[in-house]
Formats: sequence, structure tokens, C-alpha cells
Amino acid sequence: MPREIEKLEKVFSPSNKDIRSISISFHHAMLCGLNGQPSSLKMLPSFLTMPDGNEQGLYMALDFGGTNVRVLLVELHGNGRYTILARRQARLKDSNGLYDFTSPNASANELFDFIAKEVAQLAPSGKELPLGHTFSFPSNQLDVNSALLINWTKEIAVSGVEGNDVTKLLTAALQRAGLVHIRPAAIINDTVGTLLTSSYSHPDSHLGSICGTGHNTAYLERCYRAANNAMIINMESGNFNCLPLTKYDRLIDAASEKPGGQLLEKAVSGRYLGELLRLILLDILTNSRLDCLPSDLQNPYSLSAEDIALILADTTTELDNIAGWLVDHCRNRTTSIDDRLAVKKAAGLLVSRSAYFVAASYLGVIQHIDPNFDCSHHIAIDGSLFEKMPGYAQAISKAITEVHGGKAGRITTSLIKDGSGVGAAIAAAIACKKKL
Ligand code: BGC
Repeated sequence: MPREIEKLEKVFSPSNKDIRSISISFHHAMLCGLNGQPSSLKMLPSFLTMPDGNEQGLYMALDFGGTNVRVLLVELHGNGRYTILARRQARLKDSNGLYDFTSPNASANELFDFIAKEVAQLAPSGKELPLGHTFSFPSNQLDVNSALLINWTKEIAVSGVEGNDVTKLLTAALQRAGLVHIRPAAIINDTVGTLLTSSYSHPDSHLGSICGTGHNTAYLERCYRAANNAMIINMESGNFNCLPLTKYDRLIDAASEKPGGQLLEKAVSGRYLGELLRLILLDILTNSRLDCLPSDLQNPYSLSAEDIALILADTTTELDNIAGWLVDHCRNRTTSIDDRLAVKKAAGLLVSRSAYFVAASYLGVIQHIDPNFDCSHHIAIDGSLFEKMPGYAQAISKAITEVHGGKAGRITTSLIKDGSGVGAAIAAAIACKKKL
């Protein structure tokens, strides 16, 4: 087993030189995308700039990310302050198999009717209310309230949405549900929402990012297409593809809904980390004396990012929780401490590689907006990986410090909880203000 782990360590531990070179390629891909040349980065305009912090009023916010649909009722007070007055959340896929609004068997109308029903549960009756919609998939914005889905990601495959105007689909579903008084006013990506929420109260927020089921980053481009025309850009950075990948990454990609796409996301995000661990364990456990009886490990996607979090959180001397986990998943009752250490090591390598790749992409963006790293830059991050995965946030900071030494102190990160949803309310407020 140690030899297998040594091999893994080699391929899953990017050096500082690797991180630097990924960040340079990332910056190059940004420039190509901005100039309309072929690039893995779509660099999509949001038709929004930063809020001034004084946006006010009551808004509904709908946050559709791929695992859950969340609805919030948000009061913006101005001066960067807000209150979430009510919230609800529903899973898109029932764990008992009663429904699945993520598969190709679900139609666009079925999905949006489900979403409209969720909105109905929180919508105050009678009163006309603007709604901000966070739709966390690559979309071509035609303006602040109109976006065509380019393609699904995160293994979602609902029929009849790709190529269509998402606001029109939502508006029609709200009408079918009798919610004519709930008026979609803005549609944004979750990274844009996170950046808007953070900059509502912290003006030096320059990047908004999601490290959760999916991965992506947005930033404020000061000169979009014309000098002095500032615009928040949704990079769709999960699709970045200039990375040192492993045979496990290639296996995941080949079996995915969209082979060849979202290579950064497939290497770093919560949707895929469990599957990466499963493929690694299948490889190293079957090659070792820890022979696995037929078990969960044979089934694709049977492990999740939560399994990884549980493994990494085990700090007992004998790694008892990991021993129990191996009994559940491999039906193996006789693991040695070395075997358990190997499982923990593999999980740790996956998580630190994820954080290092993500940090490299952030450094690429900062290189673009401030080539000498002269100013302070705050990176606002939302998502379960950043919030809950043991050691994840620290590993991002470590990579930035190792690569940028003294100047790294100017780059800070923080969790912006509910950032993607609250950002939809802020976007709706900006859009309504513009209309006046
Ligand atoms: C989507 C992005 C989204 C990210 C995080 C990716 O799969 O393409 O639009 O921002 O997930 O939710």
C-alpha cells in the first residue's frame, strides 16, 4: 500500500511551479475569451456592475443550483445591510426515488412547475414583488433579465431547456401557478450573486466564486469591450482545461454526461470528488492485500464529498471512524491502521489538489486585474466545499501564500453564506433602479 500512496502523492500534489504555470495559462485563457478567440473560458457578460450598497426594498430570490432549489424573501436595508425574512429549500431529486428533476426524463415545464410551486410557498399574496433568479449554469445573457442556457453542467440533463430563454420558462411557470404578481426582474449566475452580496458591504471584493457541487468564478472586468465599461464577467471557469490531469480524471470525464467539458470542475468540485475517491480506492484496494469484497465501491457515484469530509474529520488515534466507514462501504472488518491511513491520505490529496487548482485560477484572475499585486483583493466564496470540507479554506490560503509570499497577505478570502441567493435580490434591486 505505501507504494500506491507514494505514486498517488506524486500525481496529486501540484508543485508551486505547477500552480504558477496553471495561473499563467488561466490568465491567457481569460484574455483569449475576452478577445473572442477560442478559449475554454466563456467570459460571459452579466450586464451588471457592482452595487453601491444603497439598494433597498423587499425581493424574492430564487436560487437554482443543481442539487437544491432555494427560495428566499430578502429585505435590503441599504448601507450594505440585509435580512433574510424567510427561506425554504427543496431537493431536485427525491432520495426515495419519488421524483427526479435532473434527468433527461424530466421536461422543462415539469422542472419549472416544480420551482414555481416552491416560490408559491413563500410568495406574499397579492403584493407585486420583483424576483431575482440565480441560475447556476453557463448562460448567454441577452440583458440583465434574459439568459439562454448554453449547456447543462453538473450532470443535469433536463430536456428542452438548453438553447432556451430561462426567464421565459420561469415566467410561464409562475403564470401557470397563478403567481402573476411575482415578476422576474434579473437573472444571474451564482458566482455573480456571491460577488454582488460581498461587495454590497465590502467594496474591495473583486472575485466571487463557488466551491460546492460545482465550481466557477466571476470578477469585475474594468474595461469590458470598451475602455471604462465595467462589467461583472461570469468566466465559467469550471470549463478551464489546461491542467495536469490523472487517469482517474480521464475515467470520470469519459463516463460523464459531457465528455471533454468542465475539466477543472470535474477535478475540483463536490459533485465529482467522491467519485474520484471511489476510483482511487478501487484501484489501490484491489491492488493491495486489503482485498475488497463486492461492495459499494463497485457502484459509480456511490461515494460523495460528505464521505470525504467524514474521513478527513477523523482525528482518533486508531482512525476508528474510517474503520467503521470501511466496514460500511467495503464490508471489510480487518483493516490495519496503515490501510486506514492510506484512505485518509488519498482523501486529503484530492481535497488539497482541488484547493490548489482553484487557488491557481484565482491567481490568474488577480494577475489580470492587478499585474503587480499592488492592491488588496477580497475573494468572496460560497459553497459547501469551502464551508464544510476540513482543511479546504486553509489549503487555498496556503497555496496563495506559497506562490506569492509577502504579497499574498493582500489577498483575502471569506465565506459569503447564502451569497448566491441574496445576490439575486441585489441584482433585482439594481435592475429595478435602472428601469426608473
Ligand atoms: C456551472 C456554473 C456555476 C457553477 C457553480 C457550474 O457547473 O457551469 O455556471 O456557477 O457550477 O454552481
